[in-house]
This record gives sequence, C-alpha cells and structure tokens, in this order.
Amino acid sequence: MKIDYNQQAFNYERTRTIEPIVYSILSCMLTPQKDEAILDFGCGTGNYLKQFSIDYGIEVYGIEPSVKMRKIAQEKLQSDHILAGDHTAIPFSNIRFNKLYSTDVVHHIDHLDLLFQNLFKISNNGAKFCICTESSDQLKEKYWLKYFPSILSIDQKRFHPIEEVIRIGENAGWVHRETVKTETQITASISGTFLERIRQKSLSVLNLISSEEYQYGVSLMETDYQNQVLLHQNEGYTFILFERKS
Ligand SMILES: C[S@@+](CC[C@H](N)C(=O)[O-])C[C@H]1O[C@@H](n2cnc3c(N)ncnc32)[C@H](O)[C@@H]1O
Repeated sequence: MKIDYNQQAFNYERTRTIEPIVYSILSCMLTPQKDEAILDFGCGTGNYLKQFSIDYGIEVYGIEPSVKMRKIAQEKLQSDHILAGDHTAIPFSNIRFNKLYSTDVVHHIDHLDLLFQNLFKISNNGAKFCICTESSDQLKEKYWLKYFPSILSIDQKRFHPIEEVIRIGENAGWVHRETVKTETQITASISGTFLERIRQKSLSVLNLISSEEYQYGVSLMETDYQNQVLLHQNEGYTFILFERKS
C-alpha cells in the first residue's frame, strides 16, 4: 500500500523539519558550494533544500511526485526548478548534476534499479549521490515500537537492506564510496513535537497500521507523555555515498 502524500502534505509541513544530524552528514558528504546546482530526489516540502540554500547559497533543484508536497516546496524555495517526477520519469534532461541526494525516500520505491539508472543519465562523471535511509537494526530500535508494534514488520518489508541498495547502485554503474551510520541515544520523556507528529500521522508508516492499533497506541503514548515517563530513545540513520563512473 502506498502513502498518499497529497493527503499528508499539510500536516507534513506543519510537523516536519530537517533532522540536524541528517543535514550535517549530508553537508560533510556533499560539501555544497555557492551557486552549485544540487538535486534533491523526492524533495517533499523542500526543507533540506531550503537549509542548503540558506547556509551555502546553492542553486536548488528538486524532483517530487506529490502535487501538494511539490507546491509547498516551490513556494518555500521560490524556484522554478522543483519539478514533477519520480524514479521512472526524471525531468532535467538538459542538466548534468555533480551532487544529488535523497532523504527518507528510497523505501517508497520498489524498482531501485530504475532510480539509479535514471539518475545516472542526468549526472556528470564523478558526481556524488548520497542516499539517507535506515538499516534493519535501526528500524528495530525505534522507541515508539512500544506503542505501535506492527510498524516493525511493515517497515522491514518497505526498507531495502543496505547491502541491496549498494548492489543495485553498483549494477547501474555507480561506485559505492562510503557507508556512514549514525546513532544517537538519549533518555528522555516524549517530546511535544514528536507527539504532534504522531497525532497528525506525519510519520508515514502510521497510515499503514490498523486504526485500532493506532488509536490504542496513541492513548498509551498520551498517558506516558502526561506522566513524563523516561524512555531510552535511540535513533539511527544510514548514509550511502555513491560516485558516478562512466
Ligand atoms: C518521508 S517524505 C521525505 C521528503 C523529503 N525528502 C524530506 O526528507 O523531508 C517521502 C517523499 O518521497 C516522495 N516519493 C514517494 N515515492 C517517490 C518516488 N517514486 N520518486 C520520488 N519521490 C517519491 C513522497 O512524495 C514524499 O515527498
């Protein structure tokens, strides 16, 4: 079952921002430069592009299939370079990029081979492409599985194993350069902003569980939030860096 991001767009924009650790690692891996054209594949509402534009003065390019997510990104970025497309239909056939990235998107794509092949066509030799996703172990450590246990099996079906992403990328002509895993661990009560994301279902997988499980999980979570119950909160991301070789 696919997530309808047109339905999600309003709440996504209200409750999601950049993840600082994701932004820092992307910045280190891609070293953005002023006026450089950088492509965000599946750019959503444009949060990462906006921050890169503020901090580095890059020229923003985005591909986003959802009309409503795209419209928010276009308005936020005031750019004509946020276009409709997906892994099967990539715009920008007249441009060759040197830097590309994709955050929190590849688990929505069944045919990753098409993604790598099509991005290859719009990249220069030596281009860097960074994918930010989560490994199977990182999916297992989410503290909210306590409230919504069936998320794990759903996510394990959606998320591609890291080795598979690398293999498919290499088969399409990309050279795997580096994999970086981040882990943060805090012991804290549930934050109001995270609870709001849960209430608004802007964590996409919540749209894939039963409404009974969702309602029950939210009520348990609200109780733990009110009681400021301390929880071990682990969060990890995996960054896979490829380089295009002709
Ligand atoms: C969780 S959001 C992430 C948005 C943005 N990358 C971010 O990190 O804020 C997932 C995004 O992937 C987009 N998406 C889903 N399937 C896609 C596909 N086949 N090609 C490109 N983008 C896709 C959705 O429309 C949505 O905007």
